[in-house]
Amino acid sequence: MTTLPTSSNPRLPVLDARLSAAAAYVRPGHPAADIGCDHGKLSAWLAGSGRCPRVFACDLRPDPLEKARRRCAPWADRVDCRLGSGLEVLAPGEADDIIIAGMGAETILDILDAAPWVADGRYNLVLVPATKHSLLRLGLARRGFALQEETLAFAAGRWYSVMNARYDGNTHTPDAWFCLTGKTTGQPGFGDYCAQQYPKLKKYRLGLAPGPEAEAVDGLIRRLEGNT
Ligand SMILES: C[S@@+](CC[C@H](N)C(=O)[O-])C[C@H]1O[C@@H](n2cnc3c(N)ncnc32)[C@H](O)[C@@H]1O
Repeated sequence: MTTLPTSSNPRLPVLDARLSAAAAYVRPGHPAADIGCDHGKLSAWLAGSGRCPRVFACDLRPDPLEKARRRCAPWADRVDCRLGSGLEVLAPGEADDIIIAGMGAETILDILDAAPWVADGRYNLVLVPATKHSLLRLGLARRGFALQEETLAFAAGRWYSVMNARYDGNTHTPDAWFCLTGKTTGQPGFGDYCAQQYPKLKKYRLGLAPGPEAEAVDGLIRRLEGNT
């Protein structure tokens, strides 16, 4: 779990707990790409705080990109706005740190799959799934991306996990408990995070016929109950 130094620059956007935790995983002094930048708060903060010498603010759609361009205008010399899908807007090596925040797990995995060059330990990934945290943990492990750390963050009425990952080539399938909770165990908010996962797992259990998978899910439910 990493925290961000506070800044007194009044022109900087205020980041909520989720984006603050994401910014904290971006390495100072490295060029960074904010994929799906939308409002541009994170891009503006990374450029305006001086944390990154160059920031690529990228989005699939022109309107969000325009919002980001306006927000980043005071630091236009350091921010490069690019329109397009995922990492296709970047040449390999242009950014060392890559943030993909606020998209579903499937979209994040699709973006990684479409850019095989990102499977390289030099890239520091900061991933903030909007949904299906477990699926992202599983998908990363199966592709050889190791979760270095996670930070639980409460924002807009729900818990997010902000994930810091890096490719190490160790492809594997983690156990179901790891998929559910990753590296969040024991952090402030862990009980509430488990409570947020609990109804989803109960709903999933309803659709299962008796058998080994149902038994495994029952085991996970009992573990979640023990943590809430
Ligand atoms: C919910 S917003 C998240 C904004 C910001 N990253 C955050 O976490 O607060 C999702 C943004 O991702 C963009 N987006 C969706 N799919 C994308 C893709 N494949 N490549 C780039 N941007 C994408 C959308 O246009 C939208 O602006």
